[in-house]
Amino acid sequence: MKAGRLNHIGIAIPDIAAARATYAALYGLDKVTEIRDFPKLGVKVCFVDTGNTELELLEPLGPESPVNKFLEKNPKGGQHHLCFEVADIIAARDAMRGKGTTLLGTGEPYIGAHGVPVIFVHPKDTHGVLIELMQAPA
Ligand code: CO
Repeated sequence: MKAGRLNHIGIAIPDIAAARATYAALYGLDKVTEIRDFPKLGVKVCFVDTGNTELELLEPLGPESPVNKFLEKNPKGGQHHLCFEVADIIAARDAMRGKGTTLLGTGEPYIGAHGVPVIFVHPKDTHGVLIELMQAPA
């Protein structure tokens, strides 16, 4: 398994509209998608195009949101995860299991906000950084 392109950097914040406005106002990053609700994923999401990658802004949607715990520790928000593309998500899952890493949840790939299957590798396996692996979009 070899990680491919850095698809996006996930950033969790308590107020997605405010964060979206900040990236535009401070850095001119105004190529952004609409804010969309993903009830199944427990987040509101928009993507900020930075030219060579994207920022994935995440606001919790509801009390069960996986982002809530992060925001309890980081109330103002912060970098939540990195996402690398992989050619084959099933092969990546098997490779990560074979290397002894801990996958979040069941470890089975599920459809993420980009509409392709993803898995997450626990931060303890990568020096404190949560890693998302995403099937490369066709
Ligand atoms: Co992500």
